[in-house]
Amino acid sequence: MLFAFMMAGAGAPPAWPPPDRLPIVAELPDPFLKPDGTRIRARREWPAQRRRLLETILHYQYGPLPPKGAKVTGRVTDHREVGDLGSVRDIELSMGPRGVVKVRLMLAVPAGKGPFPVILDGDLGWDRLNDAFIRAVLGRGYILAAFNREQVGPDSAERKGVYEAWPNYDGGRLAAWAWGFHRTLDYLLTLPEVDGKRIAATGHSRGGKCALLAGATDERIAVTAPNNSGCGGAGNYRFHDDKCETLEAIVRRFPYWFHARFAGFMNNVQRLPFDQHTLKACVAPRALLTTEALGDLWANPRGTQQTHQAAREVYAWLGAPDRIGIHFRQGGHEHGLQDFETLLEFCDVQLFGRTVSRRFDALAFPDAERVWNWSAPARSPRSSGVPTASSGDL
Ligand code: GCU
Repeated sequence: MLFAFMMAGAGAPPAWPPPDRLPIVAELPDPFLKPDGTRIRARREWPAQRRRLLETILHYQYGPLPPKGAKVTGRVTDHREVGDLGSVRDIELSMGPRGVVKVRLMLAVPAGKGPFPVILDGDLGWDRLNDAFIRAVLGRGYILAAFNREQVGPDSAERKGVYEAWPNYDGGRLAAWAWGFHRTLDYLLTLPEVDGKRIAATGHSRGGKCALLAGATDERIAVTAPNNSGCGGAGNYRFHDDKCETLEAIVRRFPYWFHARFAGFMNNVQRLPFDQHTLKACVAPRALLTTEALGDLWANPRGTQQTHQAAREVYAWLGAPDRIGIHFRQGGHEHGLQDFETLLEFCDVQLFGRTVSRRFDALAFPDAERVWNWSAPARSPRSSGVPTASSGDL
């Protein structure tokens, strides 16, 4: 039983056994199971269940997100026009205690009267978001806000950024970078140009892993969109073929992306009390789009479809089956213009109710096995409506 190990006295915090004392679960664990071994039955129980699932995922996999810190402020350092499409501001954000964590934000805002929906991306440090991307996003009436997550925490074992600001902080980089999304959003929400109800978070690969975590842990994010995020992101740990990255491979090469505890699941994956469909389900009922490339086998496209299908059971049970989408394109590992186009169309549908021709429910592996042995619970008679936002940041 997924949660039976957490049982504790009434009101006591959950007990967390070490990985090798957790039960073996061969298939994708049941996201409806509660700590007492029973299952939730009513939609109104979902917010509490989501919180328990997130606590478990953070404890064993990513570690906690840093504390909120001081109010985030921004200082404009440069400004330029992009033809008549809009303008770009370079901004230095100050986050963390006394604003000591300095993070660069590129903010491209369409011309005309806002407020505008936002595509929030953490991959500015990769220097790939050139004018073609800026034009594509502005041209469709969206803001592109891209920050450099590597200034929140370096992509190495070095303890800079939030690790210097809070020397005892023990979360991995993915948790720190997810916090970077949340803090950048704090700042964006102070701007009159920003439509705070229409925020989409995205990122590529390791940047997609943390975008998924950011969306799962912050209900201000309306659309969560990891791209080619694979292992530790939208792929699943239990089911993959020989060409895919495994839990062992990722922890060996990138231990600092995770909490130290996660190494306890190496060669022990079936003791994970969740899998990445659980993290996807924690976005529900808000919108979630996974974009995948058929040639990016390292990122486990087939296993990513399986997490999509398993998480969709939660979405359907919550009455929101069309809020979760998946899209496969030909080609390899990249976050190209066509992936941005796919996301913008998904946002048009989810945020504005527009009609587009692209489909977000086409499966690339129609023969993929059902790798979970649970189905959504029958709802109790008193169950009603889709639950609304409840818990904010974790
Ligand atoms: C490596 C790593 C992946 C990661 C990728 C990236 O290939 O193994 O997990 O997604 O780098 O971030 O580009």
